[in-house]
Amino acid sequence: MTRNSRWPGFYKLSVEERRRMAAEALGIDIRELIAAVGDGGLTCERADKIIENVVGTFSMPFALALNVQINGQDFIAPMVVEEPSVVAAASNAAKMVREGGGFKAEADEPIMIAQVQLDDVVDSVRACTRLRQHAGELVALGNDAVPGLVQRGGGVRGIEPRDLGDGMVVLHLYVDCRDAMGANLVNTVAEAVADRVLELAGGRMGLRILSNLCDRRKVRVTCRVPAHALASDGQSGEEVRDGVVRASRFAERDPYRATTHNKGLMNGLDAVVIATGNDWRAVEAGAHAYAARSGSYSPLCVWRADKGDLVGVLEIPLSLGTVGGPSRVHAGAAMGLRVVDACSAIELAMVAASVGMASNLAALRALATEGIQRGHMALHARSVAIAAGAVGNDVERVAHRIHALGNVSVDAARRALSELSSSSHSAPPPSE
Ligand code: MEV
Repeated sequence: MTRNSRWPGFYKLSVEERRRMAAEALGIDIRELIAAVGDGGLTCERADKIIENVVGTFSMPFALALNVQINGQDFIAPMVVEEPSVVAAASNAAKMVREGGGFKAEADEPIMIAQVQLDDVVDSVRACTRLRQHAGELVALGNDAVPGLVQRGGGVRGIEPRDLGDGMVVLHLYVDCRDAMGANLVNTVAEAVADRVLELAGGRMGLRILSNLCDRRKVRVTCRVPAHALASDGQSGEEVRDGVVRASRFAERDPYRATTHNKGLMNGLDAVVIATGNDWRAVEAGAHAYAARSGSYSPLCVWRADKGDLVGVLEIPLSLGTVGGPSRVHAGAAMGLRVVDACSAIELAMVAASVGMASNLAALRALATEGIQRGHMALHARSVAIAAGAVGNDVERVAHRIHALGNVSVDAARRALSELSSSSHSAPPPSE
């Protein structure tokens, strides 16, 4: 099915109408959609089987980011996030990127790293040589431990001994995880080869575990946005473009700013990671370690002006899966995967990274123009209205009023709510 992710006016519909439209456009039975994400996607009974000491479940909004086009193909990106304006901003920025031909993405093979640590190795140079000499045997041993993965076309691709000094030798095994995130597979491999590694290298056994710095599993995304697509109230597209570039340069020089820059990127990226049941702690750990690889924490995505356009370049390690993991037990995660309809873990990583890039662009554009608070507060006002007790249509009315007053606080929302209810009580009853 050829997807079209341009759904104009989607945001203006009610939740019911959005469900109908999404189900039809995605070819998903609306009853299945509602059953999966209508109520959080996870029963308490099921939750109790997943982790320990469960006393309940905890829902988050499940939304769809639109306009995402990658390598000429449209995607609807599921997003689970509690922060107002992230979904709208990503969809809006993806629309700007679309005007320049969409995101261009490519990714490495899904290679994860297993680490086997040895301490007290007497002759680490000899140990490394011995491990290298037995590479074929170690690869085969690792593969024997994950026959299912080998059958699916994955498996151990190679090894690399690393001498970390002071008698510490660490063996890396590179494992192609295909469409799995791979943590269990990689840990299985690490444990399966460990005894033989010890025999070959000597010393004392240490840890056997994956590395979340999956720098052999990176995604690269670029985009080119025509300046006119960036124009905002009162600022030309060229001015906004240059503002985004200045913001990027700031992040490139200052780790304090780079951290917030990357946080804005992870707003969108993590939301897709969570919506598809993936491990966002692993993704976060890998992303920030990679951002600091030069010794100075840097932005994962940088922006420049080129031939009049704004050009973005992102590179990030990303370990995502489309099989296994929570998608087997969490109906919402399974639905997230159906919605995004990625044909592989690699494609899912491209979608998540592109949505991250869109979030980064949206944040920098807002910061370079009117500032972040105006748009943010308009949406935040809704949560504040709910916190003040507004329900149904009153949520929008109260939010609108406190935003117009420029006082987005729970106190102001309570006052607005009581004014609204007293004016509706004193209104004449509708005529029969
Ligand atoms: C807020 O969640 C994210 C931003 O702070 C990102 C940024 O400053 O680039 C707006």
